[in-house]
Amino acid sequence: MNLLIMGLPGAGKGTQTQQIVATFNILQISTGDMFRSAMKKQTKLGLEAKAFIEKGELVSDKVTNEIVKERLSESDVNGGFLLDGFPRTIKQAKALDSMLVELQKKIDAVINIQVAPAILIERLAGRFICRDCGATYHKLNNPPKIEGVCDRCGEHNFYQRDDDKPETVKNRLDINMRQSQPILAYYEKQGLVHNIDGNRDIDLVFADVKTIIEKA
Ligand code: AP5
Ligand code: MG
Repeated sequence: MNLLIMGLPGAGKGTQTQQIVATFNILQISTGDMFRSAMKKQTKLGLEAKAFIEKGELVSDKVTNEIVKERLSESDVNGGFLLDGFPRTIKQAKALDSMLVELQKKIDAVINIQVAPAILIERLAGRFICRDCGATYHKLNNPPKIEGVCDRCGEHNFYQRDDDKPETVKNRLDINMRQSQPILAYYEKQGLVHNIDGNRDIDLVFADVKTIIEKA
């Protein structure tokens, strides 16, 4: 099964994806994670992406499409994949269609997590991430079971994303609000979109996500 997960910054795409991966044994492909990993390693891609990400802007379609194409050409995608954060523009959606035709694959469902903007800002301000395994937490909504210790890997090494600074968050939200409507309309026409109320607790949101995936 091949899925897309959509939602504005802070909607809970990564959080739900962690649970989807654990429950359905499906491969996660997150363009945001790929860019952050490249930034950490200071590769050419990382340096190019950094300039956009730091300002809350989207990385160019050309560069983004290339990394997704390369990732989708690997054999581990054959067991099914979940795209998190891609596509984000109509050009990317069309490029994905061509990639899928070439691979003789299709998207089975688009999960769209809807959250009120005021809640998104509060979620991004309180987010922190395990540097060792990438698990995502929130200081109030979703802290680790033992303070300072990652539930998933047991390490104590957390960080906050640079693009979660308030001035960058505003730009990210503005840009993503503008970009998301045409993409949703594109997939709605194909009857693929499942909207979920993401303003609720993580487990309640996941219960709906699970039902959608089981029926897809
Ligand atoms: P990306 O990494 O995709 O970031 P984003 O879309 O801004 O989304 P986030 O990862 O910030 O939010 P999320 O929805 O995953 O929320 P999370 O689960 O962490 O992209 C980053 C940048 O890379 C972009 O700005 C762009 O520059 C570039 N980029 C990436 N893809 C691109 C593309 N295709 N084209 C061009 N550029 C691209 O949750 C947030 C917080 O809320 C956490 O603290 C979590 O614990 C908490 N939380 C989650 N769910 C709940 C809940 N239900 N209740 C309470 N708290 C919750
Ligand atoms: Mg994310």
